[in-house]
Amino acid sequence: MKIGVFLATAAFVFSEASAFSVPLGSWGRYDSDISQLQLTIDKTESIIEQAAEYFNDSKSLLSPHIYSLWESLARDHPDAVKQALSLSKPVKTSPQSNWLYQVTNDQIPNRKLRIKTPGELGIDSVKQYSGYLDIEDDDKHFFFWFFESRNDPKNDPVVLWINGGPGCSSMTGGLFFELGPSAIGQDLKPIYNPYSWNSNASVIFLDQPVNVGHSYSSKPVKTTVAAGKDFYAFLKLFFQQFPEYSTLPFHISGESYAGHYIPAFAREIISNNDDPNRNFNLSSILIGNGITNPLIQDEYFEPMACGKGGHPAVLNPDQCQFMRDQWPRCKRLLEVCYQNPTALACVPSEIHCGVIKQPFRETGLNVYDMRVPCGNSSLCYVQEEWITEYMNLPEIKLAIGSEVESFVGCDHDVGA
Ligand SMILES: *[C@@H]1O[C@H](CO)[C@@H](O)[C@H](O)[C@H]1NC(C)=O
Ligand SMILES: *[C@@H]1O[C@H](CO)[C@@H](O)[C@H](O)[C@H]1NC(C)=O
Ligand SMILES: *[C@@H]1O[C@H](CO)[C@@H](O)[C@H](O)[C@H]1NC(C)=O
Ligand SMILES: *[C@@H]1O[C@H](CO)[C@@H](O)[C@H](O)[C@H]1NC(C)=O
Repeated sequence: MKIGVFLATAAFVFSEASAFSVPLGSWGRYDSDISQLQLTIDKTESIIEQAAEYFNDSKSLLSPHIYSLWESLARDHPDAVKQALSLSKPVKTSPQSNWLYQVTNDQIPNRKLRIKTPGELGIDSVKQYSGYLDIEDDDKHFFFWFFESRNDPKNDPVVLWINGGPGCSSMTGGLFFELGPSAIGQDLKPIYNPYSWNSNASVIFLDQPVNVGHSYSSKPVKTTVAAGKDFYAFLKLFFQQFPEYSTLPFHISGESYAGHYIPAFAREIISNNDDPNRNFNLSSILIGNGITNPLIQDEYFEPMACGKGGHPAVLNPDQCQFMRDQWPRCKRLLEVCYQNPTALACVPSEIHCGVIKQPFRETGLNVYDMRVPCGNSSLCYVQEEWITEYMNLPEIKLAIGSEVESFVGCDHDVGA
């Protein structure tokens, strides 16, 4: 379980692994452009001292091994190192009023749930709630949107969905593209989805980390992932307000990078099994297409892209060789990370292992389906652009209570 927890810490650092980050991200391009890059990091301090300060981890400084990792990374991947040590920009926000409920609990200080009913947007006719979990002392605000089951809400399970990201919204991915009650057409009108998960379950879509989708922090942030404790507080307050769902089977689901977060969130819930005030139970977790163990998974990008995955090679032999050549260093860095699960020990692997995927990114093929190109859309799927446009319509933002001035479906600044 420790692994799950540290990955949740390290995961915010880079937008990675999601197709949405491929064509937009400057991430990954540093490798070929090193000569043109200007490292603005102050040279008077060693890179690891800056990293230790950034990640508030002076203990790791004592390890000569981690020390040398950072020095060599700063040499080989200066731009990525610089990105890893810069705060994400604060998101511009405009507060909303007219909340239907403001839910607090004396046992959960500094946490508040603000809730609206989005009502008649035509996305579904079922009961809906949306709004924010506020972490008041930390100025973090996590957006959620709930759709009741179309079938039998008194008995159907409750499923919470988290998208991968770390920079992608659960609204862009899960809600409007993959499994929610409606898609969004080119005319920005909802298109009913009869196969939505809420045909047989009540579904909560949650935007995290902050500064993704409608979630935000008005301060620049580095640790952007909802801590297990924030997540636990969200569930307690939600089920406190809506006790009619609290005794139903409850599941946490997600994909891609959520493979990092979900085990950590489940662990938090289970570690609170003795909490006499817990008002819900966890039935299961579901992770689709998850990035859960890069020490095993990262080695297989190469065979997949080079003809050994059931599809002809999409890379040339030199590119395949390059990927194979990068793997041993990636593996060593991952081992350091697994042995010492701190950001300071793990970010080097995040930085270097990304290099392995670079040749594939340069092909412009869809990382989710390598048989097809991404096409003209910078997000690989043109539907993602319609969703982003829809989510930015003033009347939609007002209805759901969104406080971000500009909704970004996938944000490459998050944690980068
Ligand atoms: C840094 O870490 C120390 C010890 O772990 C902790 O007490 C302190 O609050 C942290 N500072 C910040 C800014 O997070
Ligand atoms: C799912 O919902 C449909 C439509 O209401 C219903 O016919 C079906 O029995 C439900 N399936 C389950 C497993 O509850
Ligand atoms: C959770 O499970 C425990 C043990 O089975 C049970 O006693 C409790 O009533 C359940 N809580 C809810 C809210 O369903
Ligand atoms: C992509 O854009 C080009 C130029 O604007 C256009 O000719 C082409 O039809 C577009 N392709 C797709 C698949 O939309």
